Amino acid sequence: METLKGIQQNKMFINGKWVSALSNETFDVINPGTGEIIDSVPLGREGEAILAVDAADQAFQCWSEKTANERSSLLMNWFHLVLDHKEEIASILTAEQGKSITEARGEVDYAASFISWNAEEAKRIYGETIPASAQNKRIVVIKQPIGVVAAITPWNFPAAMFTRKIATALAAGCTAVIKPAESTPLTAIKLTELAHEAGIPAGVLNVVTGDPKTIGKAWLDDKRVKKITFTGSTPVGKYLMREAADSIKKVSLELGGHAPVIVFDDADIEKAVEGVISSKFRNSGQTCVCANRIYVQRGILPEFTEKLKNEVKKIKVGIGTDLDVNIGPLINEAGYLKVQRHVDDAVKKGAKIELGGKRMEQFQGGYFFEPTILSGVHEQMDIMNEETFGPVAPIIPFEDRNEAISQANNSDYGLAAYVYTESLSTAIKIAEKLEFGIVGINDGLPSTAQAPFGGVKQSGIGREGGRQGIEEFLENKYLSIRI
Ligand code: SIN
Repeated sequence: METLKGIQQNKMFINGKWVSALSNETFDVINPGTGEIIDSVPLGREGEAILAVDAADQAFQCWSEKTANERSSLLMNWFHLVLDHKEEIASILTAEQGKSITEARGEVDYAASFISWNAEEAKRIYGETIPASAQNKRIVVIKQPIGVVAAITPWNFPAAMFTRKIATALAAGCTAVIKPAESTPLTAIKLTELAHEAGIPAGVLNVVTGDPKTIGKAWLDDKRVKKITFTGSTPVGKYLMREAADSIKKVSLELGGHAPVIVFDDADIEKAVEGVISSKFRNSGQTCVCANRIYVQRGILPEFTEKLKNEVKKIKVGIGTDLDVNIGPLINEAGYLKVQRHVDDAVKKGAKIELGGKRMEQFQGGYFFEPTILSGVHEQMDIMNEETFGPVAPIIPFEDRNEAISQANNSDYGLAAYVYTESLSTAIKIAEKLEFGIVGINDGLPSTAQAPFGGVKQSGIGREGGRQGIEEFLENKYLSIRI
């Protein structure tokens, strides 16, 4: 087996050391574009998960007592190293996740932005003084790191979701144990190597690769773990929240989404088409914020559909390392089967395939799906009720503003929504009524380190990024001072 170039370590990182699994077992990492095995990593379980918490717990005092400037400057070292190794990280990302090298480079920049943003935020953890009700009293609120944090990161953005959680936790003064997704552990390992090289002390950041069930359970059961932060599916998020209740851990959950896009007939159609494409087809539709329900006002439906079709035809699908490829494969067979089921179910219930609709058989070994547009979609179809996580754009006509709002809000999910209109007044009125944590107004790519990312309803709890993100890793302590 050839080891992927650029990965010097393919081990777990516990207490500043690269280690194998206690059992010495490993599992393979597969390139989803080719089906080839690219590397193997340790198959950790409960024992390694506990060792990681031992290390993080021991390192907590020292790390949390560092000044904000000290933590910030170590994070800035990490940030520079990540950018210095951009090409290397991007090629690891493409190999294990499948996304195009262009998207992978973009993700490395995005990942790095969470490190630099939080390096700065470390210096802005301000407390508060509150006027007391008695002359001989003073009230001061200080913010302190919550403690050991357990982070479970997803496969769709193996670099950015790692840094979005870990840079924030570390900036706040927390230490961390992390389990990257089984399909994409190599990016996390590379980022950890760089964090170590940047001078982040032993025990502050610990990575355990392996079995999600036993690792997760060990962390949920361990009272020393004060917080769980997770990005992934809503059912797993619910499980974590239930189990975290036993020891009253804080939870931050970034879960599924089913983003509506509402295109009004006064919209700039080119802008709307461009926005839908960047939201829908980014990462082959495998994002929690991607456009899943495209509501188009009746008056512009034919023109919008035609223009969208023309632009989607230009998307080049292929092996991520090919420089002219825009989007890569789906992550695995289960991902493909779900996308195909959504398309087949919609067609059976009356939808029309405007474009695409099936697996691209010319790519042996990988699960590549044609960029797809469906029209004539209605609410009884599975695609309208479940997250697709694939490159399928369903178009649904609407008549008026009230209908658009009620259809868009008719979902258990509430992560991102998008509105296209040239009327400022319509945009604001609609945005205020949408039951979502993020609203893109004439903007298909709202994600950025400076803003609070997160959902309402069953899309999650808590925010990542922005000045709000670091609050999730802090406790408020109130000092009542009698003078
Ligand atoms: C996600 O899909 O989980 C994250 C997407 C983003 O940060 O834009």
